[in-house]
Amino acid sequence: MKVAILGYGTVGSGVFEVINSNPEGIARRAGEEIEIKYVLDLREFPGDPVEKVLVHDFSRIVNDPEVGVIIEVMGGVEPAYSFVKEALLKGKSVCTSNKELVAKHGAELLEIAKQKKENFLFEASVAGGIPIIRPLNQSLTVDEIQEVTGILNGTTNYILTKMRDEGLDFDVVLADAQAKGYAERNPAADVDGYDAGRKIAILTSLAYGMQVDFEDIYIEGIRNISKNDIAYALAGGADIKLFATSCAVDGRVYAMVAPRMINRSHPLYSVNDVFNAILVRGNFLGDVMFYGKGAGKLPTASAVVSDVVDAVKHQGKHVMTIWNSRKLELADMGTLMSKFFVRVPQSQKAKAQELFKVEREFTAPGIEGEYAFLTSAMPESEFDQAAGQLKVLSRIRAEL
Ligand code: HSE
Repeated sequence: MKVAILGYGTVGSGVFEVINSNPEGIARRAGEEIEIKYVLDLREFPGDPVEKVLVHDFSRIVNDPEVGVIIEVMGGVEPAYSFVKEALLKGKSVCTSNKELVAKHGAELLEIAKQKKENFLFEASVAGGIPIIRPLNQSLTVDEIQEVTGILNGTTNYILTKMRDEGLDFDVVLADAQAKGYAERNPAADVDGYDAGRKIAILTSLAYGMQVDFEDIYIEGIRNISKNDIAYALAGGADIKLFATSCAVDGRVYAMVAPRMINRSHPLYSVNDVFNAILVRGNFLGDVMFYGKGAGKLPTASAVVSDVVDAVKHQGKHVMTIWNSRKLELADMGTLMSKFFVRVPQSQKAKAQELFKVEREFTAPGIEGEYAFLTSAMPESEFDQAAGQLKVLSRIRAEL
């Protein structure tokens, strides 16, 4: 099988390395040898082994009948979408790590692949090296999925872990992470939750078999989490994580990205640093967890190449993925029952106790002049209305 890689960046060079470093093992699993015939990139790479197969013109690849699988690892919606669509229409399978592309056009590209009896595979688009797409499509096919909750962004998990372990504020940790190259110079996609939002849009679409638009998902990032919030959590035996969640409640599906205060008994409590994890809850199965590296050159490349092996094994046969282009209308967040951790000035303690059923109070060493408490579970719209009557210093959804 001759394949082509679109994009020789971090993931593309990882795919090149993985395929070339274990060709016999991969051939054994795929049933035939896999040879990289082309790598597409606008740049030159003098002295790099990629030079021998480097091309700058996509039409050479897509019009070469020898190429059966195209690996798209460029990122971004365009030109990736046009390239992938053309490749599928020309009867080639496509494997991609591109979450923007999959979240926006996944249903359509899957439909084309189905018509052409080829495959559109995207294991690496969510949580890098962790197998989660294939388990959702091929293993967890009996259960009704009641909940999918993930720590799907390594950058924010790293920042929150460092804030906790070193007692530092968000801005300080972010600046340090940027200086070390762990966080992007423009960190918005990560710290404001959009990256995790695209990933939960994909997982929710697969869990319910319909199109979940990323734009419909409620998204809150971690910029407002302070070291004081974390100090209260720690003193109360809890921690704060950025959760990407979707859940079905009474036939309605909610999807959101937001920080959440959780205690030690939560299955995702021990997921620290850059690691990702996903908890899936099925009605028969109960809870299953997937844990590992959600980013990075080789872990992501490993997931991409596993898709290439799958595509080679299933030439001329579409591997079913249920993802209808019909839009799934998400439920109004105002109706979701949530508990909140809330901090207000000490002077508002009595008023807070009037407005909320306080389940628990928090203290933290060295923090004075505040009243911190946990509300009972209530519809979010009611919480917002009551909280609007207070000078809220912070509020974080809680599962305590
Ligand atoms: N920026 C992402 C993260 C990379 O921090 O998890 C993987 O999508």
